[in-house]
Amino acid sequence: MTHKIAPSVLAADFANIQRDVEMVNESEADWFHIDIMDGVFVPNISFGFPVMKAIQKHAAKPLDVHLMIVNPDQYIQTCADAGAEVITVHYEACNHLHRTLNAIRESGCLAGVALNPHTPVHLLNDIFKEIDLVCLMSVNPGFGGQTFIENTYTKLQQLKNICAMKNHMPYIEVDGGVNLENYQKLLECGANVLVAGSSVFSSSNPTETILALKQ
Ligand code: DX5
Ligand code: ZN
Repeated sequence: MTHKIAPSVLAADFANIQRDVEMVNESEADWFHIDIMDGVFVPNISFGFPVMKAIQKHAAKPLDVHLMIVNPDQYIQTCADAGAEVITVHYEACNHLHRTLNAIRESGCLAGVALNPHTPVHLLNDIFKEIDLVCLMSVNPGFGGQTFIENTYTKLQQLKNICAMKNHMPYIEVDGGVNLENYQKLLECGANVLVAGSSVFSSSNPTETILALKQ
């Protein structure tokens, strides 16, 4: 499988969101990464489902939705109705992760689990087969433009071992601080979905940057 690039709309120009969505449509990107924050699970608020719906109206590629919120169960159907294809919840925000992942699949979406930088990957052992995507946070969630945490490479290797042990291969996504300097090593370590926010939207030519990350 060739890897996927998911530009994070969090780094787009919110006053020109349609223009930026169309740029991604016309680029080599595969998914839109949509960061929803509640100001409780993370110390920041981004945007909610009405804005996501507006993005979806123009998006010609799947929406990969990253819920950085407490009580995500409450919003699964709303999120699916707003056009999500992948819904990722945080391990740290779910008391009944098995139930949450089943609810996501029942809504017709792929079920993702994100792990904060301090959360060990082995905690997914007993739920692994229910997971369609593992998102390794390579920054502390809440903000774009932060520095990549190097320990992510080790976590990727550990995750690959779990995939082999369980004979199950979910998407392996890395989110935070991904750029042209580290993307190749991430792919070598087993990542197959790269989220990129500021490295794409703050570059002088976002379309070219997406293309470079895809190669
Ligand atoms: C961080 C978000 C990321 C963010 C990535 O909490 O989950 O998706 O938009 O942005 P960059 O690529 O700038 O680190
Ligand atoms: Zn994200």
